[in-house]
Amino acid sequence: MSAPDFTDRHVLVVGQRLAPVAQEGLGRARFEVAAADRLDVLGAAHAAVELVLIDAEAADANQLLGALSALALRPQPPAVMMAGAHLPASLVRALMKLPRSDVLEPPFTSVDLAQAAAALFAGVEARAAAAPVNARCWTVMGSVGGCGATTIAIELATALGARATQGRRVALVDLNLVDGATAAYLGAAGAMTLAEASAERIDGAMLDAFSVRIGERLDLLAAPRDPRAFARVTPTAVCRLLEVAAQVYEWIVIDLPRHRQAWTLDVLAGSDEILVVSELTVPALLAARSLAAEIEAELPEGPDPRIILNRLASRMFGPAPTLSEAEKALQRKADGGVTSDWEAAAASVNLGGSISHHRPRSKIVRDIGVLVDRLTQSGEAVRQRRA
Ligand SMILES: Nc1ncnc2c1ncn2[C@@H]1O[C@H](COP(=O)(O)OP(=O)(O)O)[C@@H](O)[C@H]1O
Ligand SMILES: [Mg+2]
Repeated sequence: MSAPDFTDRHVLVVGQRLAPVAQEGLGRARFEVAAADRLDVLGAAHAAVELVLIDAEAADANQLLGALSALALRPQPPAVMMAGAHLPASLVRALMKLPRSDVLEPPFTSVDLAQAAAALFAGVEARAAAAPVNARCWTVMGSVGGCGATTIAIELATALGARATQGRRVALVDLNLVDGATAAYLGAAGAMTLAEASAERIDGAMLDAFSVRIGERLDLLAAPRDPRAFARVTPTAVCRLLEVAAQVYEWIVIDLPRHRQAWTLDVLAGSDEILVVSELTVPALLAARSLAAEIEAELPEGPDPRIILNRLASRMFGPAPTLSEAEKALQRKADGGVTSDWEAAAASVNLGGSISHHRPRSKIVRDIGVLVDRLTQSGEAVRQRRA
C-alpha cells in the first residue's frame, strides 16, 4: 500500500507539542500552528481548513467543548482529530457531533497519525459522493459599490423561482445585514432579526418567521436596518441560517457584501457558484480581478468565481472599455453580460418589485435568463460527472 499523500491539505494544529509529529506524519500538507490556549483560532478558522489536530491534554476542557460545539454548527466543518488519554465523556460526545472526527491515544507515532488522518479524508470523499440533495447556492458579490450586484441577485432569484420544481421554493438571502437594499427594491420589509437569534435555536420555524413571501415561489430573507448588525451577528448564526435554508429551499441566491466579514469565506465555500459583478469601468474591472484572485487563492477547492459584466451599453458613450479590453484588464474571460436598461431598473425599484415583473421585455430579463440557463446546465453537467 502506498503512503497516503497529504500534499496541500490545509491542516490546523492546536497545541505546539503536536506540531513536529504532525509535520512528520502529514508531509507536504500546509500547516498552521496555534498554541493550545488559543482555541479561539477554531472559531476564526478559515473555511479552507480541512483537518484540525488538537492536543486535548494541553487545552482547557471547557473551552474545547465550546469550540467543538461551535464547529459542529458550521455548514461544512473540518475533520477533527483529538490527541489525548482519558478524555472526558462530554468532550467525546461533542466530537461525535462532528461529521468526521477521531481520537488518538498517546503514545502514537507519526505513522499512526497519518493513517488516522487518511481515514478521515477518505470519509470526506465518500460523504461528498453520497451527499443528500441540498439547495444549490449561488452567491453574488459586487466588485465595487453600485455595480448592480443587488439588482442581479434579485433577478437571478426571480428567474430561478420561475424554474423551481412544483412545490419547491427559492430563497433570496441578503447578507448586507446593516443596510441591505433587496427589501426596499422589492417593496417589502425585511424580517430577519438574525442578531437577536442564538445560533442553536435557528430551525425551520425560525426561518419561516424570518422570511417574507415575495412571489409564488420566492422568499426574501433580509434583515431590518441595523447599523451594528455586522458586530452583533456571529459566524455560527450565519452558517446555521444557511444550513437550515439549504434543507428547505431548492435554490438559494445570496447577496453577499463585498467587505470581508468573519463568515464571508464560509459562505463562499458553501456556494455552488460565485458570481462577481462588475461594471465596465477600469476601476471596477481591476477590483473584480483582485476579488476573483483573492477568492481563488483562499478557496482553492471552491468553485471558480465567474465574472458578470453589468450595464453593457449597446452603443458606448465616452471612452468605455470594449469587451476585449475589459477581458484584458480582468486577465480572464467574462462569464456573462447584462445589458444596461436604466428605465427598467429605475421603474422597478420605484414601483417595488423585480424587473422581470414590471418590465418583462427588458434586455436585463433576457440576459439574466441566458445566464441562468448557462449556469444551471453547467451545474447539471458537474453533478452528472460526480455521480
Ligand atoms: N443592468 C442595469 N441597467 C441599468 N441600471 C442598472 C442595471 N443594474 C443595476 N442598475 C442600477 O444601478 C444602481 C445600483 O445597483 P445595485 O444593484 O444597487 O448595485 P450594488 O448592489 O452593486 O451596489 C441601481 O440604481 C440599479 O437600479
Ligand atoms: Mg447592493
